[in-house]
Amino acid sequence: MIKSNKPKTLTFKIKRQDDPKSEPYWQAFDMPYRPSLNIISCLQYIAGHATTTGGKDVAPVVWECSCLEEVCGSCTMVINGRARQSCSALVDEILDETGDTIITLEPMSKFPVVRDLWVDRSRMFENLKKVKGWVPIDGTHKLGEGPQESPEQQDMRYALSRCMTCGCCLEACPQFTIDNEFIGAQAISQARYFNEHETGATLKDERLDALSEVGGVSDCGNAQNCVKVCPKDIPLTESIAATGRQLTVHHIKKFFTGK
Ligand code: SF4
Ligand code: SF4
Ligand code: FES
Repeated sequence: MIKSNKPKTLTFKIKRQDDPKSEPYWQAFDMPYRPSLNIISCLQYIAGHATTTGGKDVAPVVWECSCLEEVCGSCTMVINGRARQSCSALVDEILDETGDTIITLEPMSKFPVVRDLWVDRSRMFENLKKVKGWVPIDGTHKLGEGPQESPEQQDMRYALSRCMTCGCCLEACPQFTIDNEFIGAQAISQARYFNEHETGATLKDERLDALSEVGGVSDCGNAQNCVKVCPKDIPLTESIAATGRQLTVHHIKKFFTGK
């Protein structure tokens, strides 16, 4: 273990890809150790010193980030085999966990690679559109007070609201692949979040119709990987079960009423 004796050098093995169609390849980069580094600051160093461990000058590694405080989800990548945010992944903690000065970085595998560690997460945003992930309000006139919610309802909805569309739950899900139609835990949970809002519930039937289609809730294999990896501790399997129950009621209602 390297707890008190920090190394002089860190080595990053990075899975690179020049464009969406080309084959991936690995390159290694060394950098001097400093205390309190996060992975983004290491990537910034590597971008400024784009020379591999073998001494070859190469194009700087590309990645995406924005908020730098684990809120936007854009910096998500696979670090030492685990999908997580590179802004909040601290090198000292990784060294303490692994005892290894070699750190691997890969793009998430369930989304198309744009370049290097940068992936296209549009599918998640398209899925939010499919489940109408919003509260429909007319903002052109005064709406008065919003609906009241009990403290329990607020707590439940607050937990669901923390989703940052990072993709970790989808990366870990065996049912979600890069080319199938499964909508995944994130969109199911967001549908529940908006269905539980009094005004949002006006679109509940449409959301449940979308979740009844191919790739909807019934494609979940209940492996429960998603809930274990969510960095925001969102109760995803609870959302999947709750939405499954809403779907049963929805289908019975449709059977009897025809709508
Ligand atoms: S419960 Fe399993 S199959 Fe269902 S969304 Fe989560 S990881 Fe995927
Ligand atoms: S549910 Fe969790 S893991 Fe999935 S996208 Fe949202 S924050 Fe990320
Ligand atoms: S940069 Fe926004 S979550 Fe890391």
